[in-house]
Amino acid sequence: MGNLSTIRTKKTLNRDDIITLLNSTGDDLQELYEYAAQIKEKFVGNFVYFRGLIEFSNICEKNCYYCGIRSGNRKVKRYNLTDEEIIKAAEFAYENKYGSVVLQGGELEGRAFTDRIEKLVKEIKSISDGKLGITLSVGEQTLDTYKKWYQAGAHRYLLRIESSSKELYYKIHPDDPKHRFEKRLQALADLKTAGYQVGTGVMIGLPFQTVENLADDLLFMKEIDIDMCGMGPYIEHTDTPLWKYKDQLLPLETRFQLALKMIAILRILMNDINIASATALQAIDPIGREKALMIGANIIMPNITPGIYRDNYKLYENKPCTSEEAADCSNCLEARIHLTGNKIGYDNWGDSTHFKKRQ
Ligand code: 5AD
Ligand code: SF4
Ligand code: FES
Repeated sequence: MGNLSTIRTKKTLNRDDIITLLNSTGDDLQELYEYAAQIKEKFVGNFVYFRGLIEFSNICEKNCYYCGIRSGNRKVKRYNLTDEEIIKAAEFAYENKYGSVVLQGGELEGRAFTDRIEKLVKEIKSISDGKLGITLSVGEQTLDTYKKWYQAGAHRYLLRIESSSKELYYKIHPDDPKHRFEKRLQALADLKTAGYQVGTGVMIGLPFQTVENLADDLLFMKEIDIDMCGMGPYIEHTDTPLWKYKDQLLPLETRFQLALKMIAILRILMNDINIASATALQAIDPIGREKALMIGANIIMPNITPGIYRDNYKLYENKPCTSEEAADCSNCLEARIHLTGNKIGYDNWGDSTHFKKRQ
């Protein structure tokens, strides 16, 4: 019997346990995955909830060194869906019983932007009789803005910390007022204050990142007591500053395995949170997202962005479903999830049970 038999008897995992688990291979690794799957079944059930993802604009004021749509990348064709296109996508989600949508876009500041999001949230609520759940993912904003959007009807928010190590954070972001580690931490705290179910996450397999960093990332999530997590492998993009480190990266398959391990360990560490199966997993393995669902993840974000825009929202290379339409992904995912032995929680917000308990 391997590492897990001792670790299983503990009430919670410490840093050394997590590092051991992140390094596990062979039978130990299988054992980890099986245990995480059991915990998932016990605490959140074998259900998968859909969040229809609307990547409504790739215009971003930030310049993250890893991201293909960062402001400094002049090669990207910028787009901004019209309000009508966004509402149409939300209608698709509603008609297809998705339960929720995620509005995701580049990070912008300013009144025009915050008013627009507020209006869109209200409109999505109104076209769905208040039934569509709304998750926002539009970056760091003020507490007042977060409150305003919450009032309008959004109830979940995703803001990845990207790395909980300040040192690593500044290796993957410019060190300037637009990219302050402290500001991001504050934003996560403000989101909680505003009442949201809060999600964060990190990229896995970044240049300079160590297994210790990843263990600390998981402990960070536990420490700030998140309700949801979305994390996936880092995938290098040619038109980014981090591209120059491509030869120092772990092989893609190793990054993929590491991402699965992170998901499994987080499920053990935080039994009842929502964990998304990140799209980036599928950029590496054709059934990557399904694999994640089988070892701990319980949320899928089908892309419902109109097909013509998808090619321009390439945060990383090899992004899947860039030439598909919403209906294609819908049918495809249904079949895929069926194969994992999970059921799809149609017409259901699929809120984090962790959040309910923390109230
Ligand atoms: N590889 C993987 N994930 C990336 N993201 C941005 N760029 C990349 C990349 N090159 C992730 C970030 C961001 C989310 C929307 O996409 O974690 O928070
Ligand atoms: Fe903008 Fe997000 Fe890309 Fe950073 S990761 S450049 S905030 S879209
Ligand atoms: Fe988009 Fe399969 S999920 S085509």
